[in-house]
Amino acid sequence: MICAGRVVAVTGAGRGIGREHALEFARQGASVVVNDLDSAASVAAEIGAAAVPHAEDVSTWSGAESLVTTALSSFGRLDVLVNNAGIVRDRMLVSTSEAEWDDVLRVHLKAHFLTTRHAAAHWRAAAKSGETVDARVINTSSGAGLWGSVGQSNYSAAKAGILGLTLVAAAELSRYGVTVNAIAPSARTRMTEDLFPDLPGPEDVAPLVVWLGSPESRHVTGRIFEVEGGRLTVVNGHGRGPAVDNGTRWNPADLGKAVDALLAETPDPTQVYGT
Ligand SMILES: NC(=O)c1ccc[n+]([C@@H]2O[C@H](COP(=O)([O-])OP(=O)(O)OC[C@H]3O[C@@H](n4cnc5c(N)ncnc54)[C@H](O)[C@@H]3O)[C@@H](O)[C@H]2O)c1
Repeated sequence: MICAGRVVAVTGAGRGIGREHALEFARQGASVVVNDLDSAASVAAEIGAAAVPHAEDVSTWSGAESLVTTALSSFGRLDVLVNNAGIVRDRMLVSTSEAEWDDVLRVHLKAHFLTTRHAAAHWRAAAKSGETVDARVINTSSGAGLWGSVGQSNYSAAKAGILGLTLVAAAELSRYGVTVNAIAPSARTRMTEDLFPDLPGPEDVAPLVVWLGSPESRHVTGRIFEVEGGRLTVVNGHGRGPAVDNGTRWNPADLGKAVDALLAETPDPTQVYGT
């Protein structure tokens, strides 16, 4: 029961990975706000008295705000926000419509910002009033955001944006007692089952997220973890590689040699999915 007494809001918890997060948090002693545009009520009912459904769109200002106020009005506090809701609109870049671009950026990147923005305002006020805050945000990126994925320019851009948001939120919110980390999961859900039917189940992602939501993870922030089945990987993709300082502005004609020398010292990038 590593989350006994904690109050957790999980977005997109009506099915797939988010549903497993909600169930595992409840098993570990937490009360859960189960957000989803559909199926929130059935997952909340499955959990019972320790859950409340929230069926609003977290990619809107008011939907994200009411996620936080629902936690406060139902359970009196909020300790953990899990940003998980997502959609895909897969298409080659050259065929992607403006609506397909905007929808994916809104549901992933903007919703992550909005819920975190409202939760952070609550935690800042609590910290300023002298309360001890020990709160968590767990964001959901993807291998597509880390390494790129053919046919998913919108999704890869949104998931890469979530990594940047995670780093800044971790840096800004630590002063209020809030850690912010991101996961890049792989699991068999309706999002992946056609292309990758052999992936492990979504229940394998929940233990890491529940641990990140617990008081035990207080010292971990600004980190990115890949998780697939029982395999857990720390992602160190933002480290700097080899560098050269010309001492003055480069002449464009000299850069070919300099760049080739740097790349020769640099490990090859992780392959883009689908190449
Ligand atoms: N399945 C994987 O292998 C995989 C890999 C990398 C990243 N992810 C990410 O994990 C998260 C969960 O994905 P999943 O595979 O469980 O997908 P899923 O489609 O099974 O579940 C996503 C849930 O989000 C809900 N949702 C969508 N838009 C919403 C909104 N605006 N407000 C509230 N709820 C909304 C949907 O109704 C759905 O229940 C997503 O962010 C996804 O991008 C999944």
